[in-house]
Amino acid sequence: MKKALSLLAAVAVLAIGTTAMAASMLASKHDMTKYGTTLNSTGTNKEVCVFCHTPHNASRTRALWNRSNSTSTFALYTSGANEESSNWYMSGSKEGTITAGSASLMCLSCHDGATSIKGNVVNAKGTITLTNDTVTGNANLGSDLTNDHPINFNYANVQSAGNQTGKLVAATGTMVGTAKLIEGALECASCHDVHNTTNVPFLRETIQGSQLCLQCHIK
Ligand code: HEC
Ligand code: HEC
Ligand code: HEC
Ligand code: HEC
Repeated sequence: MKKALSLLAAVAVLAIGTTAMAASMLASKHDMTKYGTTLNSTGTNKEVCVFCHTPHNASRTRALWNRSNSTSTFALYTSGANEESSNWYMSGSKEGTITAGSASLMCLSCHDGATSIKGNVVNAKGTITLTNDTVTGNANLGSDLTNDHPINFNYANVQSAGNQTGKLVAATGTMVGTAKLIEGALECASCHDVHNTTNVPFLRETIQGSQLCLQCHIK
């Protein structure tokens, strides 16, 4: 009985969390239903989460992910201090390349501007038709990320490196202030929360006064 009650409580918490999330996701730039006919597309009941999540048979162990990776080869930022220490990179990767398990590949399965938004969905019960099926414009980062903020490296290793003394804020658990480490690494989702429209564009902290940057960088 006690177990059943706590299970009920857990389900209630989950339901509230999801409703709040859906409210901010709907009609946001991450609401793909605006591009056309999606699953269960009668009235306003189009499926929003399916482009990224599935309850079963997910493509990776993280976040019940419903997409295959992009087939592009990505090149990462390598200039400056970042070049100096090989242990900054995730194991299995070398400088300038991305690891196969990188959480940033989740974002890049759309933001490479080449991968089909609907075609790369792993589990969908029904037909999806989209007028916009790839990311275009400024949100298309392409596969050359050498001109984008470094990603896919171990934050603690960098933060504690001798040449970084006094330059970076130490992490507390998975958080660096309001920025978030993903499996210990700095990834796209460290700065962005794809579900939250409070700080445009989906930022974890306001960019006013460069506050997002100052979560990690000491200046
Ligand atoms: C455009 C893609 C996208 C859409 C659409 C999306 N999500 Fe997410 N979601 C992500 C990504 C990427 C992550 C993992 C990164 C992170 O924690 O921000 C995530 C993480 C989550 C998590 C945390 C899971 C974990 O393992 O930490 C939950 C819960 C979640 N999403 C629920 C939802 C719900 C409910 C919807 C629909 C209302 C939704 N998401 C729509 C991309 C999306
Ligand atoms: C299912 C495809 C998909 C995935 C996965 C996805 N996005 Fe997007 N994202 C889009 C589309 C489509 C847009 C809208 C582009 C436009 O309007 O030009 C967008 C827009 C954005 C924007 C710009 C918002 C604005 O207000 O201009 C940001 C930032 C963004 N995404 C970050 C991310 C990050 C970070 C991840 C991973 C954690 C991610 N996205 C995952 C499809 C996706
Ligand atoms: C260090 C923090 C940080 C990281 C890491 C990061 N972003 Fe961003 N991103 C930002 C900020 C800040 C902006 C807003 C910039 C502006 O408004 O000039 C932004 C803007 C964007 C935009 C909107 C571009 C536009 O001009 O409309 C997209 C799309 C985006 N990011 C996707 C991603 C993806 C995908 C990744 C991972 C490959 C990523 N970001 C990693 C901080 C970050
Ligand atoms: C989640 C923590 C985090 C956030 C948030 C963050 N950074 Fe970084 N940034 C780092 C780390 C770690 C490095 C790699 C160490 C280094 O190169 O200084 C880095 C590297 C850089 C570099 C390259 C330095 C070099 O040596 O080549 C610049 C420039 C930079 N960040 C600027 C920004 C700006 C601007 C913002 C806000 C829009 C921002 N960062 C947000 C953690 C962060």
